[in-house]
Amino acid sequence: MEPITCTALAPPPVLGFLAVHAALRRDCADLVAVARAGGAVGHRLALLDRVLTAHHRGEDAVLLPLLRSKEPDIAEVTKVVEDQHVRLDAAIDGLRAAAADGRTDVDGVAELADLLADHLALEEQHLLPTWVASLSPADHERFARRLRRATPWRDIAVVVPWLLDAVPDPFRQVAEGELPRPVRFAYRHGLRSRFERTWHRPAAVALAV
Ligand SMILES: [Fe+2]
Ligand SMILES: [Fe+2]
Repeated sequence: MEPITCTALAPPPVLGFLAVHAALRRDCADLVAVARAGGAVGHRLALLDRVLTAHHRGEDAVLLPLLRSKEPDIAEVTKVVEDQHVRLDAAIDGLRAAAADGRTDVDGVAELADLLADHLALEEQHLLPTWVASLSPADHERFARRLRRATPWRDIAVVVPWLLDAVPDPFRQVAEGELPRPVRFAYRHGLRSRFERTWHRPAAVALAV
């Protein structure tokens, strides 16, 4: 039997996009649970801010212009998506400021979760079909190269280990195999351990941050 590859399931950039959305939903659900339990959320917010900013940078700079070039009628939707990116940034900034003052804004966290849920659903329902339908396999490869070139190393260094951390165990090896070789090498020889040192903390410590 042929080994499973991501390409056999869907174009790798599309799978990566959906994997990022799944990981964002997981982290946002954790954030809400910690806030409702009365815990401090500063550490989790800082990571959510890092990965969401990196994801939005790729969408704003590469994906949305590409979709508009393929399907001009999608501009109305991409405008809403861009506005939501700004609102999400502002919501996280507000929550981080509260956390820096030692406060957890439980209602604000719930609002952020609703905003993010609506945003991810909008992208999946209104961008994804055009993305999949309007690009050839060569277009998907070109898109992946442009996204890599537009992504600074400081983002790769956090997003890659964060994403692989969220991948279910049976698929982790497949997902690791999809990384460009230099990134895979860096992940195995430093990025993963640095991510775990910086962002994985025992629950009791994380709650106290
Ligand atoms: Fe987005
Ligand atoms: Fe997205």
